[in-house]
Amino acid sequence: MKILVTGGAGYIGSVAVKELIRKKESVVVIDNLSKGKRELVDKKAEFYKVDLVDKSSLEKVFKKHKFDAVIHFSSYKAVGESMENAVKYSDNIVGMTNLLNIMVKYKVQKIIFSSSAAVYGMPKTKIITESHPLEPINFYGYTKLAMEKTIEWYHKIHNIDYVALRYFNVAGDGGLDYIDPNALNIFPVILEVMSGKRECLTIFGKDYKTKDGTCIRDYVDVNDLVDAHILALRTDYNGALNLGTGKGFSVMELVNEFMRVSGKKFRYKFGLRRAGDPGILVASNRKAKRMLNWNPKKKISDMIKSTFKAYGLDISKKD
Ligand SMILES: NC(=O)c1ccc[n+]([C@@H]2O[C@H](COP(=O)([O-])OP(=O)(O)OC[C@H]3O[C@@H](n4cnc5c(N)ncnc54)[C@H](O)[C@@H]3O)[C@@H](O)[C@H]2O)c1
Repeated sequence: MKILVTGGAGYIGSVAVKELIRKKESVVVIDNLSKGKRELVDKKAEFYKVDLVDKSSLEKVFKKHKFDAVIHFSSYKAVGESMENAVKYSDNIVGMTNLLNIMVKYKVQKIIFSSSAAVYGMPKTKIITESHPLEPINFYGYTKLAMEKTIEWYHKIHNIDYVALRYFNVAGDGGLDYIDPNALNIFPVILEVMSGKRECLTIFGKDYKTKDGTCIRDYVDVNDLVDAHILALRTDYNGALNLGTGKGFSVMELVNEFMRVSGKKFRYKFGLRRAGDPGILVASNRKAKRMLNWNPKKKISDMIKSTFKAYGLDISKKD
């Protein structure tokens, strides 16, 4: 297959590109390098520095290549920033609409889309299935929902097949020694604390109705996540699927697991709850397992170990 990967220079996209090449697929990557790094892109993939908002540059890529499918990772993704700079985040919607319109013009009939648990908003149930109400509470989540809806209509009107994969918390390293240049997620933040780049981890809230008062999240390994995309390329299913492990870890459990796995202690303190942070966010992954025959294998300790390796921290010698 010839596959276009947008955002293929980013954290998840670069792992997907590497895996697709390993599976002998032909891969073309576009990325505006606003966050991604050119050196993360496998050398066997053809690379174009293109912003999806720029229709004519995007079309040049489609003129040159006949794609069988698109995997669409590219997006701005910082929740807080989306509330301060909606103009920038509206590019997520504009870029995807350009992409779909060009797919229609060049008769590319399949897209796998990176959606997010952010489409659900505040959870109304402990475990979230795909039929949970879609009520995003930040502009980033709204852009993901708007894009899902647009693809759904393009499926009805233009017969474009799609799978919208709603990721929960993606973690671990996919073998490319990825260092997050703008660490906002807990894994890279802990690594920054442990490597001395940051003084202390702030745990937001210790009064949630959970076993230890800290938030519970569902962490899914980036390699398992990428496997789901590759399976999705070949499914006949059209619609949305959750990608998570179905297991919740509290922030405090995660902190303790980092310390246990590394044998090292690090500083943390408690801060106030962050607005819009739900207490518990855990996926039901039954539908993804059924529709894709997907089977996430990695444990939280695997995700932690691979992240340590990426940051070049030696955890073989315990303190
Ligand atoms: N990392 C997570 O935990 C997580 C969770 C849920 C959903 N997602 C979604 O998964 C996808 C990949 O996330 P990631 O963690 O790899 O993020 P990332 O920022 O590392 O990768 C996104 C890539 O898209 C590129 N990009 C952004 N806007 C673009 C545009 N207009 N045109 C061309 N390229 C553009 C960036 O340069 C970057 O390389 C995103 O759509 C994100 O919203 C990620």
